Amino acid sequence: MTLHNIQLTPQLVQAVRDAVDIVDITSEYTKLTKAGRRYKGLCPLHKEKTPSFSVDPDQGLFYCFGCGQGGDAIKLHQSLSGDDFPAAIEVLARRYGIALPKVSESRRGPVEPDLERVLEEAAGFFQDQLKKSARVLDYLARRKIPEELIERFGVGYAPDGWRNLVGALGTRFPLRELEAAGLAARSDKRPDEPYDRFRHRLMFPIRNAAGRLVGFGGRTLGDDQAKYINTSETARFQKGYLLYGLDVAKRAIRDQRRAFLVEGYFDVLGAAAAGLETSVASMGTALTPEQARLLKRFADEVVVGYDGDEAGEKAFRRSLPTLLSEGLTVRRPPIPPGEDPDSWRRKEGDEALLELVDGAEDAVMLEIRRLVPDRVRAEPSLQAQAARQVAELLKPIPDGILRYSYARVAADRLGVPVDLLWRRVGGERGAPAVEEPAKPRSEVRSLEERVVQLLLAGTVEIPPPAELPAEDAFLDAELRNIFATFLALYKAADGSRPEVKEVLAQVGSEGKAVDQLARLLLEDSVAAAKGELQKSLASLKRRWQQQRLRELSTEISRAQSLGDTQRLERLLHEKNAISRDLHGRQTDSGGRA
Ligand code: UTP
Ligand code: MN
Repeated sequence: MTLHNIQLTPQLVQAVRDAVDIVDITSEYTKLTKAGRRYKGLCPLHKEKTPSFSVDPDQGLFYCFGCGQGGDAIKLHQSLSGDDFPAAIEVLARRYGIALPKVSESRRGPVEPDLERVLEEAAGFFQDQLKKSARVLDYLARRKIPEELIERFGVGYAPDGWRNLVGALGTRFPLRELEAAGLAARSDKRPDEPYDRFRHRLMFPIRNAAGRLVGFGGRTLGDDQAKYINTSETARFQKGYLLYGLDVAKRAIRDQRRAFLVEGYFDVLGAAAAGLETSVASMGTALTPEQARLLKRFADEVVVGYDGDEAGEKAFRRSLPTLLSEGLTVRRPPIPPGEDPDSWRRKEGDEALLELVDGAEDAVMLEIRRLVPDRVRAEPSLQAQAARQVAELLKPIPDGILRYSYARVAADRLGVPVDLLWRRVGGERGAPAVEEPAKPRSEVRSLEERVVQLLLAGTVEIPPPAELPAEDAFLDAELRNIFATFLALYKAADGSRPEVKEVLAQVGSEGKAVDQLARLLLEDSVAAAKGELQKSLASLKRRWQQQRLRELSTEISRAQSLGDTQRLERLLHEKNAISRDLHGRQTDSGGRA
């Protein structure tokens, strides 16, 4: 789905890594105050009242002790903007004035041309046409869409006729680009005469979260059978990965941690006109997990303003598990039958829509009440059926405590003991989702963490690569990953300590290892007592050797029973070496004591 026409070379990525300033990036989203060498502030990634977000400009790292997310400036930018990695690199490169290598024509070969330029040109053309069309402006005025919003959303008009856009853009762009962008089509009868796909339609430019134009939705202004025509689905335009209006709304959504999710383009405009700047539309199709994830990037709560008809209600119910499984709180306002947010606003005014949204009830509670009507308690078979439905409803909720609280309410209504329902809901599965403060760590992990922390932090001298333990000595997968990366870089650099930035770049921003790494480096405990690293390394090694000895016993008996003498010899050799090392150390220290 990327649109980038740049080449993502390692040099470019490196240049961006070197140039980005984590304090600068963070400051765009939250106020930072200096605290020693570091900065502190309210976390822009989750809702909190006391600052637990820490930034270290020297190491180029952030970590939130509240929500446990951490990493470098690029990751922070991605989480906050919704950009994917290539988009983030491009945006940040532009911001810091780094030259972007263009993909050369020859290298690009048959890959899609830079359609974003055609799309942008078309958007401009449609906007100009709208300004010239008194009739269409009048249509928008009658629908009470203020001019300011027409501008903000870049709404345009595709005039009636077959060759308006093709004529206007055809001299500057090859026709196949207009076609590839879904703006022109050609018929079998006259293959040489491409024509405009959008005719006499109000045009809504559709942008992805990063603000890149990916397509259009066009509403008919005549009596065309198709009320809306959208850009056809291609790699770059997939409705299921997009939310209309998110590029405009994302800042407000992040500030309020809440989004207003509606069905249609006009609902977004209408709600925005009423002052709901957090409005986005799923564009009339079933909400996908990708769309829910997109929302979760910016919001904790979603108010689902789908139409107040049967189809809208159905769509709402289908979206519920998708939203809940992302850990989002869902609310559902009572949209009156036959209305949508836009029509309701036009009928009753801005205030009425705001009231409706403010009064939106918790959707799970609403569903529990719907699934368990009062008469259920009097009829065992209905009771059992309702219990099954409620269990299905609650299962996707990841937070165990929240799931349990709902289960208790539902059990009450059902008139059954909560334990019975709880088992159905998958109660045993869930530790509650981690909220502040960070989860307690086990003994095993704390030793491994401490070693990684001291190796990376640069506060103590570290042994040469050959004296460090094997990566298998780490039992925790994330710490093993970090350690292995560190060790490889350390070896490659001939024993000079790799920089945290390098390790971070190698570990990558996917997965939990980055968060871990950031935490280890931003914790206040990086100062070490003398000899502490050596001691920790020794215990780690001892633990690993003991474990290896146990494994060797099993392998040795297997080799014996198979009569594999070669292998047996090798194993015995390893066992002796380890025993000697372990034993030797013990007598050694014993002798000294
Ligand atoms: P609606 O039919 O409810 O349209 O479809 P609307 O947005 O309320 O428009 P008005 O107010 O009647 O003018 C809701 C959304 O579903 C998608 C569009 O995104 C639309 O905004 N849709 C609908 C299509 O993509 N194609 C269609 O043919 C119909
Ligand atoms: Mn509608």
